[in-house]
Amino acid sequence: MTDFLVHTSYLVGAGCFIFGIKRMSRVRTAQAGNRLAGIGMLLAVIATFIALGSVNYTWIISGLIVGGAIGGILAKRVEMTSMPELVALFNGLGGAASFLVALSMFFKLRYSGWWVELDKLDIEKTLSEIPGGGTTGIALALSLLVGGLTLSGSVIAFAKLSGKMKGAPILLPARHLINLGSFAAMILFAGLAVYATTGGFITGLLMILVLLIALALGVLLVIPIGGADMPVVISLLNSYSGIAASMTGFVLLSAQQGSEGALMLIVCGALVGAAGIILTNLMCKAMNRSLINVLTGGFGDTGGGGTGDNSEYENVTSFGAEEAAMLLDGAPQVIIVPGYGLAVAQAQHAIAELDAILEKNGTVVKYAVHPVAGRMPGHMNVLLAEANVSYDKLFDMDDINGEFKNTAVAIVVGANDVVNPAATNDPDSPIAGMPILNCYEAQNVIVIKRSLSPGYAGIKNSLFEYPNTMMIFSDAKKAVQEMVKELKDL
Ligand code: TAP
Repeated sequence: MTDFLVHTSYLVGAGCFIFGIKRMSRVRTAQAGNRLAGIGMLLAVIATFIALGSVNYTWIISGLIVGGAIGGILAKRVEMTSMPELVALFNGLGGAASFLVALSMFFKLRYSGWWVELDKLDIEKTLSEIPGGGTTGIALALSLLVGGLTLSGSVIAFAKLSGKMKGAPILLPARHLINLGSFAAMILFAGLAVYATTGGFITGLLMILVLLIALALGVLLVIPIGGADMPVVISLLNSYSGIAASMTGFVLLSAQQGSEGALMLIVCGALVGAAGIILTNLMCKAMNRSLINVLTGGFGDTGGGGTGDNSEYENVTSFGAEEAAMLLDGAPQVIIVPGYGLAVAQAQHAIAELDAILEKNGTVVKYAVHPVAGRMPGHMNVLLAEANVSYDKLFDMDDINGEFKNTAVAIVVGANDVVNPAATNDPDSPIAGMPILNCYEAQNVIVIKRSLSPGYAGIKNSLFEYPNTMMIFSDAKKAVQEMVKELKDL
């Protein structure tokens, strides 16, 4: 009966994860998806306790209290704009937890005491003789490799995003050679540890070396990537943390026959690994860049690194809030295009206020959300949700692009690259081929930004010179608040 209960709980838990992730793919159902996945995890934890029977709760409860308190406080305090940093840290800790569990299992199986107690070593045994044999060894090596790389890579990503380290790419000479050499050494040491060593101490030492090289490799792989590309890297590291967890699941499963709880770790890790890599690919596709291009680095330092048309702007029309309000008054439809500047200015509440006043005047208001607007996936959705903008008004690029030509006014709030027509009409542009929001097709385009400075890609935006474009040079929040005031006065 207990077995049935445990296995059924694992199955239902795995189902909750899968449907939870599915629901997270839509803004409207994301919160419910998150809750469902949480329920799945709770089921898995309870089932594991039942399966284990008697366990020492002191360590488990202490860990829960300390970890839960730190996580809770961090999540409560974090600003929305700092979310990618927090996710980076969580990924790193996930990688660390995976390799630490795998290592502890290795030492538990291999030695009767701490690994430094040389007198207790069984010199004759090779790693492949421990329970689970070579499978345990390979899974352990992979857990150390991927988990170590995830930890150090995530710490660098966190440091770059939080400004604790310069965001500009650090390009070491012969870095590809160094990386390849480190990777080869790691595989060699892991192989030796699994198949060629007879001494327990040497095996342990080789495993520690694998971990150290993995940690170094994480740093080497992330330092050449510019700060602005960190969201892609974080998504990739998220995928790695899932793979590390999966590998640790294999270590537990093959080393301790009958530890079905590890199955959940394998399933969960595989899901995170797959979801992370899908998200990474989507982000690269939306930027029209390959993953290799992102990972080999050198592009997108904090100020952008593009090389497109950098000629002087001509015929730019500057506008004020009063003129903008007059244009908006009586407009049948307005589309708001949010971008990174909206996040910087924290203009979401002002936008929601503008939306309310326009709707009151009988204007239909919609939001066009580009998949890579801002600096992290779903950045704009989260900000707008914070200001209680209805999900029904948010449209994906493909769903709204056809509507611009029938729209009286498009208001571009702190967006730049995602509305740059050069992506479609300049084959030499660094963003050529990137799908954009066609707001240049609207009858009038109001662009709110502080200056003519480029966006992330570091290139000129020809939209600013279009005859139907009016620029409001101001902080986004201030400009929108002024527009609200003018509309109220009209
Ligand atoms: P960007 O092209 O980066 O442009 C943002 C604009 O906001 C800047 O031109 C800046 O101009 C303006 N701005 C900054 N602070 C402002 C403020 N306080 N008030 C008003 N405007 C302000 O943004 P985007 O259009 O959202 O494009 C995102 C870019 O990031 C894309 O190139 C994308 O490929 C890249 N990227 C995105 C992601 C994800 S997942 N979203 C990941 C990696 C890279 P001023 O300085 O003149 O004000």
